[in-house]
Amino acid sequence: MSGEKPDNLPSEAELADMSRDELVRLGTKLDDVELVHYEERWPVKGTRAEKRAERSVALWFLIAALSGLAFLAAFLFWPWKYETPNTDAHFLFSLYTPIIGLTLGLSITALGVGALLYTKKFLPEELAVQQRHEGGSSEVDKATVVAELADAGERSGLGRRSLIKRTAGLGAGVFGLGVLVLPLGGLVRNPWADSDSKDSLWHTGWKSENGEKVYLRNYTGDPHEVQLLRPEDIEAGGFLTVFPFRESERNDEHALIMATKRADNPVMLLRFRPGQQIVKRAGQEDFNYGDIYAYSKVCTHLGCPASLYEQQTGLLLCPCHQSQFDVFHYGKPRFGPATRALPQLPITVDEDGYLIARSDFIEAVGPAFWERKS
Ligand code: FES
Repeated sequence: MSGEKPDNLPSEAELADMSRDELVRLGTKLDDVELVHYEERWPVKGTRAEKRAERSVALWFLIAALSGLAFLAAFLFWPWKYETPNTDAHFLFSLYTPIIGLTLGLSITALGVGALLYTKKFLPEELAVQQRHEGGSSEVDKATVVAELADAGERSGLGRRSLIKRTAGLGAGVFGLGVLVLPLGGLVRNPWADSDSKDSLWHTGWKSENGEKVYLRNYTGDPHEVQLLRPEDIEAGGFLTVFPFRESERNDEHALIMATKRADNPVMLLRFRPGQQIVKRAGQEDFNYGDIYAYSKVCTHLGCPASLYEQQTGLLLCPCHQSQFDVFHYGKPRFGPATRALPQLPITVDEDGYLIARSDFIEAVGPAFWERKS
């Protein structure tokens, strides 16, 4: 901005007395700016064409506001919980992500198009060439730049285009609200309201309701097929992924599918080779059944499924950030960003010889959260 200045710079008193127009001209001269072309978009004010242009800009801001409102409504009220396939509810659920993506995307796009159209249709057409200078700006530069900006604002006519001003404010306001709701929305529902519920973060689908037995169910890929397990079904050195099953849910298609979808349900069932040296966690010495151990499959770092198992070393690898858990040593982390051991599910067999959970996990599974002590 500041380069060589003409000797006859105005004094502070003269600057204070100058009109905005005079300051703009002075600023242009001081900045070595040569206006090659300058033309008002609407030299005659208030024509029908100008009004039409104004309405087209306002329309885009209005679309931004409406789609922002649609986003807010969808984010807060659209059915977002997983529903089993082939139902009307599933169809609505499957639209949740596209709907919030489309409405938020349309809102920001409409804001951008509105702003773009406004500059195209209302800002004066100007072609200027300016020489570049080095160093900081002088007081004269600062005063004249402020005048130039104010002048540009006035010439753009924004001050007298209340329709555009209002719709732009509305569009930006609603969009801003949407952006705010996005990170805060998750906090609206209080996950601690009922910490005894099996749906709270303290519990998993392994929690028994009314004392009903919870079996370890082998997952075959078909959510309707219920395959319960006996200890002899798993070979030494082998592992299976299992999910909870209750007899009361045998004919309940929704419950059968949900048991395999719930994020904190998957458990790794491992059978170690006889004679394998195992270190058990204090207080959990009887959580295993013979050589069979059950660990949560949910990585304690960020919740990916940790199931790449190397049976010789007993290391379980999480593919997301390479945490390794030592299942011979109560699931203790050996490498990577995870800091907590994999929670162990206490298991036994019932009178018919089927593997069952003795209780839910005794600690929360998966990543840390604020209310967790460790
Ligand atoms: S989620 Fe497993 S290492 Fe990050």
